[in-house]
Amino acid sequence: LEHDLLAHIAAADTLDALEAVRVAALGKAGSVTALMKTLGGMAPDARLVEGPRLNALREVVAGAIAARKGELEAAALDARLATERLDMTLPAPERPTGTIHPISQVFDELAEIFADLGFAVATGPEIEDDWHNFTALNIPESHPARAMHDTFYFPQNAADSDRKMLLRTHTSPVQIRTMMTQAPPIRIIAPGRTYRSDSDATHTPMFHQVEGLVIDRGITLGHLKWTLETFIKAFFEVDDVTLRLRPSYFPFTEPGAEVDVGCSWAGGRLSIGGSESWLEVLGSGMVHPRVIAACGLDPNEWQGFAFGCGIDRLAMLKYGITDLRACFDADLRWLKHFGFRA
Ligand code: PHE
Repeated sequence: LEHDLLAHIAAADTLDALEAVRVAALGKAGSVTALMKTLGGMAPDARLVEGPRLNALREVVAGAIAARKGELEAAALDARLATERLDMTLPAPERPTGTIHPISQVFDELAEIFADLGFAVATGPEIEDDWHNFTALNIPESHPARAMHDTFYFPQNAADSDRKMLLRTHTSPVQIRTMMTQAPPIRIIAPGRTYRSDSDATHTPMFHQVEGLVIDRGITLGHLKWTLETFIKAFFEVDDVTLRLRPSYFPFTEPGAEVDVGCSWAGGRLSIGGSESWLEVLGSGMVHPRVIAACGLDPNEWQGFAFGCGIDRLAMLKYGITDLRACFDADLRWLKHFGFRA
């Protein structure tokens, strides 16, 4: 029997098979257990001989099972380690990460540049009413400037007939909202989305502007020019820049000026500096006394300047973007190429 059992144990090649052998030998109805049970019916001197023999048999079998169990467990562990092995030298799979959109990047740069000059960032709603977008800015109803803005109007609500809603055509209504809620002196920039019904390679129906507004005592055109020069130099990271202020008309400024930046052509690309060609980047002027008065301030005490700058144009120039529409197509390849790492 011992020989047979040891052969079965050696032949068991899984833990389950080994357990079956154990139950068949040492279990309640096992062959060794059955032999042990015969001891009780034996004569005392036979029991004296058979007892130690059977105990020894049981121990040999139990020992062999334990040893075989150890072998099988070690083999199972080896097999698991072989299949679950991690190769730490393999390159990790690349995780897709987003990028900062060039327009957002420009917003951040502007906020930083103007923070150094003491300007806070202000915001206003993109869905505006006609009073903030036009009337308070000295553009009354039927003024031709309204037609120039290609405004997107909302269908008019009869119950609210004197509050015509529209998508703001410029960031200038933030001038009004700021002057009506903050006591001067005021120094703010207001970056944000603006809308006009217009579309080609350099115009999209949604575009971006940054408004600047300073209201204080004794503000002059000189402050405006210095601020714009400082801003353009810091933004384009150049030591010198030529600005051309062209007299122009905005109903909310007096006087008003359009500002061009001097550029030159290098390697087929327009770059900042020189005066080979002029790129119009912003509108500006001294805030019209009527606008100051419309906001409840005394224009004899408070003066200021304002400017409104097309941000998309600045971003295109600084980062070599040729088609503005691609900026807002949400094409991942474009965003990867022109975007910034967070
Ligand atoms: N709001 C004007 C525009 O969109 C720009 C501007 C702002 C001009 C402030 C003068 C002063 O064209």
